[in-house]
Amino acid sequence: MEGLLLAWFTEHGRDLPWRRTRDPYAVLVSEVMLQQTQVERVIPRYLAWLERWPTVAALAAASPADVIREWQGLGYNRRGLNLHCAARRIAADGWPDDLTELPGVGPYTAAAVANFALGRDVLPVDTNVSRIQERTGHRFSAAAGQALMDLGATVCLARIPRCGVCPLASACPSRGRRYEPLRKQSRFEGSFRQRRAQTLRLVAESERPLSDLDRDAVQSLAQDGLVRVAPCGTFVTLP
Ligand code: ADE
Repeated sequence: MEGLLLAWFTEHGRDLPWRRTRDPYAVLVSEVMLQQTQVERVIPRYLAWLERWPTVAALAAASPADVIREWQGLGYNRRGLNLHCAARRIAADGWPDDLTELPGVGPYTAAAVANFALGRDVLPVDTNVSRIQERTGHRFSAAAGQALMDLGATVCLARIPRCGVCPLASACPSRGRRYEPLRKQSRFEGSFRQRRAQTLRLVAESERPLSDLDRDAVQSLAQDGLVRVAPCGTFVTLP
């Protein structure tokens, strides 16, 4: 089964910029960006990020305000701040053995960096990989990580898998099955998440009086360390 997958990947695998490096910092940046943002949107932002901050030391020396501004539009802005904190920790203490000690790095991201950058024998299991393992009933090895991600993103789709072009179809017990629609991601329009994003965008442009802003959104952003309310309580700025 794995041989079929790897042969398919050699021919159909996507050429993604973070697959051209084994630099753990670059791979970490890519994986944190990919946590909740689509590949096509991540590519230009990943390249711009690495051009601006090519190393852990460079990112560690940046101000939180610049990091928040550079992250704008990727969504879930705490990820940017966490990445910045992680860089400061690594710059000070080196890379921890257990990567989940870094802020914003969960078991999946830790496994992805360990595998793709450090060549460790762990398979990063995200929803795509887990879906393929369930459908095929096969446990893939660490060598199959990137190939599984591409198969999950382009062939073994959540609702309507394209079994007709799947390299594993001949060996797959779920071949031809259809799946119920999954829970849709809740609407961004009109959500509190959107109010937070709009408020952060305004503050990133220039500091603003609290009275001009959505107070609940400011409070929530301040709790996450994404904005700061000046001591006198009237002006809101980036940290
Ligand atoms: N999604 C998360 N990590 C990825 C990777 N390394 N390549 C493609 N898609 C991904």
